Amino acid sequence: MINRYTVIGQPIAHSLSPPIHELFGELTQRRISYTRTECTPATFVETVRDWQANGGRGCNVTMPFKELAPEACDRLSRAAERAGSVNTILMHRDGSRVGHTTDGAGLLADIGRNRRRPLAGRRVLLLGAGGAARAVVEPLLGARPAALHVTNRTAARAEALADAFASFGPVTGAGIDALDAEAPFDIVVNATAASLAGELPPLPDTLLAPGALAYDMTYAPGDTVFMAWARERGADVADGFGMLVEQAAEAFGIWEGVRPKTRMAWARLHDVRTRATDGADGRVDIQRRSS
Ligand code: ATR
Repeated sequence: MINRYTVIGQPIAHSLSPPIHELFGELTQRRISYTRTECTPATFVETVRDWQANGGRGCNVTMPFKELAPEACDRLSRAAERAGSVNTILMHRDGSRVGHTTDGAGLLADIGRNRRRPLAGRRVLLLGAGGAARAVVEPLLGARPAALHVTNRTAARAEALADAFASFGPVTGAGIDALDAEAPFDIVVNATAASLAGELPPLPDTLLAPGALAYDMTYAPGDTVFMAWARERGADVADGFGMLVEQAAEAFGIWEGVRPKTRMAWARLHDVRTRATDGADGRVDIQRRSS
């Protein structure tokens, strides 16, 4: 029997999740199919229900539905409940649906394992206080940084996000205009939607400690504006493709009970990305986050 999965988003045509999950199926010798599904906010919950009613075993959820997705679930993992975000739904044969979030685990796997940049004892900055940022705060604190500072264009959202997770570790929040007083940071994670629009938040030149890692949760054919800014200032830079792959591996593990060994497959995963960017397989001509 083939287990059927899909990724639901809007827009969704450029998602790299189908070729990534098909490769995982091959690596783990599981028979799966994985498609793309587009819907609107008004039809999202119904689309999830229909997928299950038609035999689907699970789905991924991406922009702009991750914060809406808890409504389509009967139960949530503790991480998904606290994040208020679901990117992976497991569909049981009894008709129930369990929501998980794998974005935080994907981010940590990429920074810590793939890039060998442990967060423990480091000063970490999270740029942004929207849904994408909220989904990774608890996992970041779980990696025991010396400090996690959340900064945002709208200061009140950063303060509220830090307050909500204060019991999980040393987290503070403030506006971008107050960033100079907090800098420098060893690891800076850009979770704003600014990169998606080709924009750069106003960052101080004092932001990056020597040898810092600047990580953009967005991926795009070339450097994002944030990566280019950080590269010019001597930082190591990374985009969100590794996070995309690792969150997908976590999701596959939840569905199929086996986590694909991504380290065995990077050459082929990069090939998936290059083919999409080259246009042979549908273009990644807009910037994407985790889908
Ligand atoms: P998502 O679910 O993708 O995180 P969101 O919840 O709308 O989307 O959050 C978008 C985030 O990107 C917010 O932190 C937003 O800042 P505000 O809270 O001040 O709106 C941030 N953002 C979007 N465009 C930005 C820009 N041009 N410069 C700086 N921050 C930006």
